Amino acid sequence: MAALSPNITIMLRAAEKAAKSLIRDFGEVENLQVSRKGPANFVSAADLRSEEIIFEDLKKSRPAFGFLMEERGEVKSETAGQEEFRFIVDPLDGTTNFLHGIPHFNISIGLERITDSGREIIAGLIMDPIKNEVFHAEKGTGAFMQNRRLRISARKELAHSIVAGGDAASKGKPEQSRFIKGITALTGYTSGFRRMGAAALDLCYVAAGRFDGFWEHGLKPWDVAAGTLIVKEAGGTVISLYGDSNPVYADSILASNVGIHAELKKILQQTME
Ligand code: IPD
Ligand code: CA
Ligand code: CA
Repeated sequence: MAALSPNITIMLRAAEKAAKSLIRDFGEVENLQVSRKGPANFVSAADLRSEEIIFEDLKKSRPAFGFLMEERGEVKSETAGQEEFRFIVDPLDGTTNFLHGIPHFNISIGLERITDSGREIIAGLIMDPIKNEVFHAEKGTGAFMQNRRLRISARKELAHSIVAGGDAASKGKPEQSRFIKGITALTGYTSGFRRMGAAALDLCYVAAGRFDGFWEHGLKPWDVAAGTLIVKEAGGTVISLYGDSNPVYADSILASNVGIHAELKKILQQTME
């Protein structure tokens, strides 16, 4: 990779260490599929191991930064006073895929800056350890996969677009019925729907122009913190479908290229009235 900034370098190092552990554990999960108890407990332990590795590594490099992590929640920095930066971490995104031996999951690390005017993600790194794809971005400097600059797709017509989404399988009935309404409304209007099972990678795929749009209800900050910046830095648009100002903390997210954004937003918002 070309010269990386200090923040991206430490995020990459932490993700690489965690990825080694996840890859080892993923090999074991494939063996456990046939066991009577199944791999569920083992996968929870793999998730926790990944989070521990990332936490310890980042804390050592940036002791003044706080954390918001999926498993351990909010961890304040060890230095006194108002903290200005925090890492938002999903140590294993795509857990259901991992559990079933499907090789599509990732580690997602966002870096948030907190000022009087609000919160913003200033750096993001998402690693797909199986495909060896590392997506990263910093505010104002573009988005990359390894050395390659990422650009959203140029498609302007929904009919030629691939739209991805999340079925909210692990969420409540309201999220599930909002998903069903959305997919019903879109059926027949696009070139196809994809449900890959790892929201952070869905966002990276929008940034890379592989998908033209992605929406999901009920996601959490660790699912989208890094990915929203990667999409924006690739030239895409990310909004909350409910109009909240910060999509990282919103209940419904839409990310897309510029060309289909208005139409996609209109169709999905009509299903939420
Ligand atoms: C999940 C994945 C999935 C999305 C779920 C998330 P997890 O994260 O991103 O694609 O549909 O809503 O919770 O639980 O695998 O970290
Ligand atoms: Ca997740
Ligand atoms: Ca997770």
